[in-house]
Amino acid sequence: MIRVESLQKRFGEKTVLSDLSLEVKRGEVLVIIGPSGSGKSSLLRCIGGLEPFQGGTIAVGEARVSGAEWAHQSRGEREHLRQLRIRVGMVFQQFNLFPHMTVLGNIMEGPIQVLQLPRSEAERRALEMLGKVNLTGFTGRRPASLSGGEQQRVAIARALAMQPECVLFDEPTSALDPETVGDVLAVMRSLAREGMTMLVATHEMSFAREVADRILMVDGGRIIESAPPAEMFANPKHERTQLFLRRILAR
Ligand SMILES: Nc1ncnc2c1ncn2[C@@H]1O[C@H](COP(=O)(O)OP(=O)(O)O)[C@@H](O)[C@H]1O
Ligand SMILES: [Mg+2]
Repeated sequence: MIRVESLQKRFGEKTVLSDLSLEVKRGEVLVIIGPSGSGKSSLLRCIGGLEPFQGGTIAVGEARVSGAEWAHQSRGEREHLRQLRIRVGMVFQQFNLFPHMTVLGNIMEGPIQVLQLPRSEAERRALEMLGKVNLTGFTGRRPASLSGGEQQRVAIARALAMQPECVLFDEPTSALDPETVGDVLAVMRSLAREGMTMLVATHEMSFAREVADRILMVDGGRIIESAPPAEMFANPKHERTQLFLRRILAR
């Protein structure tokens, strides 16, 4: 479903992802762990088509974009990027909801503007997605009147309303009050159970242990270790993975 080959990403002179390759099969849940600054967000943003990259290729389903295409951006290449973006749902640490729109408006916006669905169809879909994230009845509320956990669940509903082929989560619970984290993780857990393909950067190790098919440890812009959770937690091979897990599990 997702295939990243030899991805190279630089900010100016600084290389933040070097020769990174990974594959996510349909229905798989991959959790990405690693210290701050290791390149987790950059990787997710590249896969979502939000961030230019300099080398390698990213494919999601039938959509495929290379670093060279990002540089040129002729009409055909912009179409490849568009194809990538509509296949990937993104959920960010800071929700990024439109503050002036209602909950329902936030969820309907993409389907109307990007997929050109009729309003009635977009609304039907938005209501269904609100049910999925356990927020039925929140349609007319503004983001500012919601808790962080509720806002994040609206953000998940908004991503799902585009019917993406996969959803990428970038530390989705890191900005939340502890008491609202569980509701967001519960929604993510049920999405995983329904067979959604997911790539999740998170420090929630109990979620990783329970839900992930595989954990990737990223450090310095490379995947230094990859294993199923039981193996990764019981027997981390790389010294930096051991150190990282010891720190994070001690919190
Ligand atoms: N817009 C940017 N401009 C320059 N450097 C950036 C930018 N975004 C991220 N970086 C750098 O890229 C590296 C990887 O960052 P990031 O992908 O955010 O890591 P993580 O999500 O693992 O914390 C860091 O060194 C960070 O400082
Ligand atoms: Mg990050």
